[in-house]
Amino acid sequence: MEYRVKDIRLAEQGKGQLNWVEEHMPVLMKIRKRFSEEKPLEGLKISACLHVTKETGLLAKTLKEGGAKITLIASNPLSTQDDVAAALASEGIKVFAWKGQSKEEYYDCIETALGAMPDITMDDGADLVTALHSRDKSFLKVIGGTEETTTGVVRLRAMEKKGVLRYPIIAVNDAETKWDFDNVYGTGQSTLDGIIRATNILIAGKTFVVAGYGHCGRGLANRARGMGARVVVTEVEPVKALKAVMDGFQVQRMEDAAEIGDIFVTATGNKNVIRKEHFLKMKSGAIVANTGHFNVEININDLEEASENKSRIKQFVDQYTLKGGKKIYLLAEGRLVNLVAADGHPSEVMDMSFANQALSVEYIACHARELEPRVYEVPKWIDQSVAKLKLQSLGIAIDVMSDEQNEYIKTWLEGTL
Ligand code: ADE
Repeated sequence: MEYRVKDIRLAEQGKGQLNWVEEHMPVLMKIRKRFSEEKPLEGLKISACLHVTKETGLLAKTLKEGGAKITLIASNPLSTQDDVAAALASEGIKVFAWKGQSKEEYYDCIETALGAMPDITMDDGADLVTALHSRDKSFLKVIGGTEETTTGVVRLRAMEKKGVLRYPIIAVNDAETKWDFDNVYGTGQSTLDGIIRATNILIAGKTFVVAGYGHCGRGLANRARGMGARVVVTEVEPVKALKAVMDGFQVQRMEDAAEIGDIFVTATGNKNVIRKEHFLKMKSGAIVANTGHFNVEININDLEEASENKSRIKQFVDQYTLKGGKKIYLLAEGRLVNLVAADGHPSEVMDMSFANQALSVEYIACHARELEPRVYEVPKWIDQSVAKLKLQSLGIAIDVMSDEQNEYIKTWLEGTL
């Protein structure tokens, strides 16, 4: 079968979404134009396990213009935009993704993506790569891959350290033009968007607890404060905790924050960050959501065990009634609330992330033979060129160092005048 989507009749609606992103992702559009002329990916098969959104749609079309044959699957069972998936399928991209997959369906799609015998893998969370690595070596004709997100890079680095990684992977997440924008502004805004779309809760005046002060947590804490919330941060790393303090946030242990929070969001990349002892301390009416990659940050088993009743009160909002009558609301089944209950990061920020993706794939196509089975940084010149193109698209000019200034920053001879 060439595709599996929820409803191919949604294609017209999805095409509207794909037209929208063409206006909002100017850097990727520029790369797409060059790819269509130069065909740098001619003959390559790419299996991509990404959130199937309108932004990913434009990335897939860019890679196709570059000559690649794409198989696109979802990197989360609930994040697919069904109209976009239908539109891509109608344009000849092999898409196997729909919103509301069971765990079995999710992993079946991974099998389909592997069955396509890719030369290059693209991952968001490393589920595709880890599935591939559980196979017999003969399966492997992959020359390289890319990874989109922090959690995936952490998993891949662990594989590299254990000596089990079999091919080079570029950590797109670690490009400055990715994490410093996508993780901070993208997650910040879209997480609030997801919470608001699901609940329409007023943020102003609420106590908003952010677990984790990495880039995503920092972006979210700042946006929540901007909307008038009293923000509490929980952390395990002393330097990050200190940054949160100096950024003006209250820093507490989760066991203390649990008693005062109205809204809780996890952004740690770790598991069981909110668990039984915390649920038991929460106020009735507390809203709990996750914006980390996997649905492991909130211990849902604990919540179920502590509850005597669970009911879906609206899409993406489950009401748990604890023994004794207290109510806790879990959003998006503990999966990424920004992609499940909203549309994920805005196109303008994904423009830079996916420009890095497209250029990293091109880099692999050209340089795979020189690379070892390691996790690589995005080459600095790619990162810089994405920043330059983005500034250009915004019509922003910046200064250029004079020859004298260029010399000055290289010398150790000149000091106090
Ligand atoms: N990750 C976060 N937001 C996204 C988006 N809009 N598209 C693809 N991946 C994403």
